[in-house]
Amino acid sequence: MQRIIVGISGASGFAYGLKALTLLKSVEIETHLIITNAAKITAEHELPQMAMDQITALADRVYDINDIGAAVASGSFKTSGMLIAPCSMSTLAAIAAGLSHNLLTRAADVVLKERRRLVLMVRESPLHLGHIKNMEAVTLMGGVVFPPVPALYQPVQTVDDIIAHSVARALDLFDIDIPSLPRWGE
Ligand SMILES: Cc1cc2nc3c(=O)[nH]c(=O)nc-3n(C[C@H](O)[C@H](O)[C@H](O)COP(=O)(O)O)c2cc1C
Repeated sequence: MQRIIVGISGASGFAYGLKALTLLKSVEIETHLIITNAAKITAEHELPQMAMDQITALADRVYDINDIGAAVASGSFKTSGMLIAPCSMSTLAAIAAGLSHNLLTRAADVVLKERRRLVLMVRESPLHLGHIKNMEAVTLMGGVVFPPVPALYQPVQTVDDIIAHSVARALDLFDIDIPSLPRWGE
């Protein structure tokens, strides 16, 4: 079974991480979930109707952010890589600097060192030069900076459509096919 690490950090857009868990469950990919403390705060603001237990129940395994000895902290634990959705500027900076100061940034560092796929759904606007330089650094290390920019050329009815489209495109980068993703020209 293919497995992927899903990181949810404290940028606005907890719904991107939630959508990733939902789509990955629908295609039976094993998910390993790490949520930062700040993301738990954004979840309270953005998804007040959902309890954290309901969210974590979507993942196959859930790790404490401080559990630096967890399986995903080791390169010997094989995965297809890691999606961070959404990725805050703080987490981006930590990854760019190789800080590994919590389990999420350690897992991202491991994914990079093992030359596996790392996709960061970064969210901030406007960007200062530090943000841009951190994106450059992560790109040079082999990561993919994937801001969830809405594709308005596709028919969009709801915010959920926009979120689902961005997340499905991000999962495409892991060769994970989401059948409901509309593809241009098909
Ligand atoms: C409601 C809310 C929205 C936020 N939105 C963003 C954002 O879009 N991008 C960002 O980089 N930080 C955002 N932040 C700030 C981060 O949560 C903060 O920098 C935090 O330290 C990130 O920690 P983490 O990377 O460990 O999750 C937001 C915070 C809150 C409470």
